[in-house]
Amino acid sequence: MSKHLSEMEKERGIHTDFKNRMTYGEYLKLDQILSSQICLSDHHDEMLFIIIHQVSELWMKLILHELRASIRQIEQDNLAPAFKMLARVSKIQSQIIYAWDVLSTLTPSEYMEFRDKLGQASGFQSYQYRMIEFALGYKSDHVLKIYEKAPELLKELKQAYEAPSIYDVAIKQLAKAGFDINSDLLERDYSKPYKGDPTVEAAWLAVYQEVDKYWDLYQLAEKLIDIEDWIQQWRFRHMKTVERIIGHKMGTGGSSGVTYLKKVLNHCFFPELWNIRTKL
Ligand code: HEM
Repeated sequence: MSKHLSEMEKERGIHTDFKNRMTYGEYLKLDQILSSQICLSDHHDEMLFIIIHQVSELWMKLILHELRASIRQIEQDNLAPAFKMLARVSKIQSQIIYAWDVLSTLTPSEYMEFRDKLGQASGFQSYQYRMIEFALGYKSDHVLKIYEKAPELLKELKQAYEAPSIYDVAIKQLAKAGFDINSDLLERDYSKPYKGDPTVEAAWLAVYQEVDKYWDLYQLAEKLIDIEDWIQQWRFRHMKTVERIIGHKMGTGGSSGVTYLKKVLNHCFFPELWNIRTKL
């Protein structure tokens, strides 16, 4: 019998004897991943709700991995590898936006069947989402309070909060290229939100006016614009999906819901890169 099986393996080019070999499931820890969908209700649609959040968090993990590495590369003046990583971030963003199409199949009546089970849990408390915002330069400290009881995580969050963002290291690249950048920006307290600066705007404007001369900075700027554009599209689709499912009810996280999500849409990560478009 075993001879027969190994002959079949050979013919088909496959392996079936895994006594001493690592399987696909072991490598990917599928036991852990696939046993982590614990529904709190008997409602059929809760599975969709859990999986869509888990998938989003997995993609966020990869976005963070790429963003952090690209910040290190830009700090060390290695722009080409950073561009490749940032291009991957945008591809992931374009991918996760389709999650809203799947979630939109959840109707208000279906969601109401299990919404109470969530208590006060909300994506608002997503620490990976906040770490992405921190890496992009949007520093809001409310999430630090939420995780006060989890010292390891809090430490990681604080590090991300106090670290330079991708925009901070991009501004340093402008200074390194010889642009006259406000010196306060180059050694600033990175935990403070970035408010925009005329010297940075003048530098980006010059980059877009002489793209051949500043090709790398021009590419960097366009990669950043790609990422912000996708973030805004994600925010918009989230807001519309939420409106479609809960209307103008308050969020489980305690905010005004859609009104809050609309307000967040006004936040801009890289203000000068948007401003110069009018001035060119
Ligand atoms: C039925 C589906 C969903 C509903 C009704 C919903 C509702 C809301 C609401 C009302 C808020 C505002 C905070 C609050 O008061 O809770 C919020 C925030 C948030 N949600 Fe969702 N959400 C849904 C799905 C998702 C999914 C699939 C994700 C993916 C991870 C997600 C991620 C977030 C994030 C990151 C925030 C914080 C946004 C910010 O502060 O800018 N949500 N959500």
